[in-house]
Order: sequence, then C-alpha cells, then structure tokens
Amino acid sequence: MTCLVGEPLPPAGRLAMVTGTPDSSPDPVAWVLRGIRSNERYVNRQERGQLTGAQQGLGRPASTCAALIPIRKTAAWWMLTQDERRAIFEEQSHHIQVGLKHLPPVARQLHHCRDLSEQEPFDFLTWFEYAPEYESAFDEMLAEMRASEEWAYVDREIDIRVVRDSYVDREIDIRVVRDS
Ligand code: HEM
Repeated sequence: MTCLVGEPLPPAGRLAMVTGTPDSSPDPVAWVLRGIRSNERYVNRQERGQLTGAQQGLGRPASTCAALIPIRKTAAWWMLTQDERRAIFEEQSHHIQVGLKHLPPVARQLHHCRDLSEQEPFDFLTWFEYAPEYESAFDEMLAEMRASEEWAYVDREIDIRVVRDSYVDREIDIRVVRDS
C-alpha cells in the first residue's frame, strides 16, 4: 500500500471485494470503502466504441494481479462545470487515449463514492486487473496519468496492490462414486 497524497489508510493484509451488503464478519476489519458503479460522465460516442471494442471483463484467470486505487479530487475540481472537467480530463490530460493503449491487458472497473454521499473518504474507487508480466506497463500508465493536469486536482490517492489467493484458481474435481 503506497500513499501518494493525503492521509494513508491503516495497514491491512488481505482485501475482499464484496458486491451488495457485506455479511457481518466475525473477523476484525481494518477499513471498509464503499462505491457504486454508475453512468459515464465524460466518454463520447466514438470513445465508447473504442472502449467497448477493446476492453475485457474482470475475473480473467491469468489476471492474478490487481490494483485498488481510491482517489479523492479537490473542491476546486467539483466547482468546475461539466465541460471544464471534460476538457481537463481528456483534451488536456488524454486520460481515455492513454488508458486505451493498455486495453485489453488491463481490465478495469470504476466505482463512484460521491453518488452515495459527499462524506465518503474518497470520490472514486478504481480497480484494475492484469497479469503479473504486465505490471511494469501498468506502472508506466500510472506515471503518465499522474503527471497530467487531471492529477493536479487529486488530493488523496492510495495505491493498493493485491495478488489473488491461489485457492480461488484451484480447479475442484468432484467425482461421485456410486456403490454398486
Ligand atoms: C486501463 C486503462 C484505463 C482506461 C481505458 C480508463 C478509462 C476511463 C474512462 C473512459 C473514464 C471516464 C468514465 C466516464 O465517462 O465517466 C475514466 C475515469 C476515471 N479513471 Fe480511468 N482509465 C484507465 C486507467 C485509469 C487509471 C490507471 C487510473 C488511476 C488510478 C484511473 C482513474 C480514473 C478516475 C479516478 C476516473 C474518474 C474521473 C472523474 O470522474 O473525475 N483510470 N477512466
């Protein structure tokens, strides 16, 4: 877990991604972050075509590495109008064009926290999955994005890397033996 800007999160050894309301767990939990999948804000028709043509879904067996990167943007960002934000996001920072170069090796899912409440500790929970051999290219993409104008509006960012438990991958072979 690397804290790039803003307050860090307490350390944690394992991460569970839960859809829906998490079961109350008997295990102590270091922290919980909440977000929801939501509608797109910035993508235009042409970009959507490029994205849907290139992207693949989460959960690919070879993508054993993942990054959870919670991000908060500044009050100044949220004071901008939609067209001003789009201009910074794409025309100046080329977020989509930079990201497209990494599809399909990287699968991604954006979650919005601000749609739940403005009191959430982050505005976005970004999630990426890739194969171990793609890690350095993934890091290069991050460096390019973090150097962009868009990131001047990021005031909290934590880069959390996880590796999938091997048991999730293990094939289970069930044989039913009948008594003769
Ligand atoms: C894998 C390549 C990537 C692609 C193809 C991609 C694509 C996109 C697209 C299309 C959107 C806009 C969604 C909308 O219209 O609302 C978006 C938003 C976003 N992406 Fe990426 N992205 C990539 C990588 C990253 C990385 C590495 C980060 C950094 C952690 C990141 C952080 C975000 C954030 C925070 C937003 C929300 C921006 C906002 O609404 O202000 N993305 N991304």
